[in-house]
Amino acid sequence: MPAILVTRPLPSAVIARLQEIGTVEVYSEGAIPPELLKQRIVDKEALVCVATDDINQSLIDAGAQLKVVANIAVGYNNIDVAHAWSRGVVVTNTPDVLTDSVAHFTWGMILAITRRLAEGDRLVRRHGWKGFALDFMLGSELAGKQLGLVGFGRIGRAVAARAPAFGMHLAYADTVDAEGPFEKMSLDRLLNTSDVVSLHVPQTAGTRHLIDKRALTRMKRSAYLVNTSRGPVVQEAALAWALEQRLIAGAALDVYENEPTVHADLLTLENVLLVPHLGSATTETRTAMANLAVSNVAAVLASRAPLTPVLA
Ligand code: GLV
Repeated sequence: MPAILVTRPLPSAVIARLQEIGTVEVYSEGAIPPELLKQRIVDKEALVCVATDDINQSLIDAGAQLKVVANIAVGYNNIDVAHAWSRGVVVTNTPDVLTDSVAHFTWGMILAITRRLAEGDRLVRRHGWKGFALDFMLGSELAGKQLGLVGFGRIGRAVAARAPAFGMHLAYADTVDAEGPFEKMSLDRLLNTSDVVSLHVPQTAGTRHLIDKRALTRMKRSAYLVNTSRGPVVQEAALAWALEQRLIAGAALDVYENEPTVHADLLTLENVLLVPHLGSATTETRTAMANLAVSNVAAVLASRAPLTPVLA
């Protein structure tokens, strides 16, 4: 039986599926320390991991028997994909099964920041609410405003599909051309003209700090930034500065540059919503993601084509 390492606990039905394929070792004490992962990978043919496990060259080299790395995430910036493929190791991710979940979550973030939900919750909890007033804690309407999507892949498009429900106009910045009721713009124009800017790009060398001081100063003072993609796409120090200076109205973040650390200045600001990387975090979606990863492992170990390979 092939040996399989799983870096996080998974639902028991998913583990049972893996046990039909091989001998399963599950690390269940939180994030697996890199040194331990390196020791445990040596005799494994399959690795099932998450987006915070660093699957770098030396880890891949340590896995002399390794045939497949199945990431339970759509993003795969944590894996040296080119090196894996050069060593004959298949890399897979979990697209599609989380698209709707992340799109719904993104709308939750948009509504929460524009209607000040977390800020209001904090006020109530610290007994700061003095009662109803017509001009109290006013937010911004979405209808008639522009939603600018940076990145127009599966998740960006799923977010776009829900925009008519809120009466928003759509713009996107990406290299792809898409047909539909949305306008393609340069990033600069999108930043200049959007009322809500939502990020849906993968983390690559090209997207690192895409939203820096320069980008933030291009945004409208009344605009909001939403990031459910990857933390390093936004330069956190620059964002804290822009929020402090009120150069933008607010931000909603699900991801951070150095998770689980959050830039200290952001923690003190009221006009930012800080959520702990929950974009795909529903029981249904996480189970579907884990099942897809297992199907990929099963395919590769049976010498079949993986369902959702990541190409180098
Ligand atoms: C989560 O962050 C993912 O990439 O699926």
